[in-house]
Amino acid sequence: MTVTGNLAVLGAQWGDEGKGKIVDLLSPAFAVVARSQGGHNAGHTVIVGGDEFILHLIPSGILHPGVTCVIGNGVVVDPAALFAEIDQLHARGLDTTGRLLVSSRAHVILPYHRDIEAAAESRLGAQRIGTTSRGIGPSYEHKAGRFGIRIGDLADGRPGGRLAGLIEANVGERNRTVAGPALDWRSVWQDAARVWERLAPLVTDTSRYLHDALEAGRPVLFEGAQGTMLDIDHGTYPYVTSSNATIGGVCTGLGVGPQAIGGVLGIVKAYTTRVGEGPFPTELDEAGAERLRAWGREYGASTGRPRRCGWFDAVGVLRVNGMTALAMTKLDVLDHLDELRICTGYRRGGEVLIDPPPTIDGLAACEPVYETLPGWAGAGRTAGVTDERDLPAAARAYLARLEALSGAPVAIISTGSDRGDTIVRRDSPVGRWLDAGAPAAGQAR
Ligand code: IMP
Repeated sequence: MTVTGNLAVLGAQWGDEGKGKIVDLLSPAFAVVARSQGGHNAGHTVIVGGDEFILHLIPSGILHPGVTCVIGNGVVVDPAALFAEIDQLHARGLDTTGRLLVSSRAHVILPYHRDIEAAAESRLGAQRIGTTSRGIGPSYEHKAGRFGIRIGDLADGRPGGRLAGLIEANVGERNRTVAGPALDWRSVWQDAARVWERLAPLVTDTSRYLHDALEAGRPVLFEGAQGTMLDIDHGTYPYVTSSNATIGGVCTGLGVGPQAIGGVLGIVKAYTTRVGEGPFPTELDEAGAERLRAWGREYGASTGRPRRCGWFDAVGVLRVNGMTALAMTKLDVLDHLDELRICTGYRRGGEVLIDPPPTIDGLAACEPVYETLPGWAGAGRTAGVTDERDLPAAARAYLARLEALSGAPVAIISTGSDRGDTIVRRDSPVGRWLDAGAPAAGQAR
């Protein structure tokens, strides 16, 4: 099997690192872009020539006409959200016909999942997760509980059929546990059965499709959603999402072997943000956060919520992904600062930890240990810079320090929201790989 040339792109913080832009940038070098987990809780923003596209479910590769996009079995799909996104792309002249495939094994999100989530969040009160309210968690719960509904189940919408039976049982359970007016399972079933006609042409065994693509040597980009610290196993549990946003999620969420992954590109923002509740050791006070939020336009792409902002946390950039290289985004947002901080460890009691403690209480007891570096305000800008030699010396020093602490070389530096505001280090693993293994942008595959 051809194993080189395939790359996994993963968020290395709490999501919102700017994966959309990086995937968009790399997509022309790939034949296939495949999404492995999450749902329309994700919000991938891509700006092309001043035009903004926000994608939630469909991989950002869809903006490139030569690329086929796959929504894998590990994704949870709200059919209404999927159709809305397809319609939006078509309205803007981007035809997805024949270029978008959905796994028949992916689980669906139906209206009762959202109701169950709203009730759970309200029950939790002050301990609520602060989810995106899209029904993501309950859909994964039903999957693990083995009474979930998969895309392929939508094909059998007959009265008395499998879909009807599952929906009757699931809506019955929802009506027993959620206060307020009951939901009529028949109308949920009829709506669910109706989507099949439109969905059917997209549905396939995507694991087989990817296997064949890999066999044929067609380069595949594996696109993760959310980020490492939101991973259900390795993140700040329980303040996490309900899927594996780390590298293992690529294999289980797409049905591909680990040897298919030729490299892992971790995306980090030059500082840290988080939406929703949960611990955030390097969080700034409101005045500091507000400045970064304004400069970086840090509002959730899915929910519009203001993002919490803080310093770069090198402890949080975990080893679990085996990252080959990093892409650093939003360096330009730091252009305004005289001084920068990087968290190099967590102090708890008398000891300094270099790994986050596994419990929420343990994490809450940690104080970040900071290293302070000079900023470059007044000594140049990074905004819009496309040649590394034009970066201010302090910006280069900041990058070098983050590289050393994270243990992976920075391959790509993003200096603005547009596609063009980017530096690709040709001598980095990803740059060398792009040069050697993958066709350049726009070339035929
Ligand atoms: P859920 O994924 O909607 O269940 O939300 C669980 C947690 O993950 C919440 O803190 C959300 O804000 C966060 N989250 C989910 N998706 C994203 C994302 O794409 N970017 C950033 N945070 C996210």
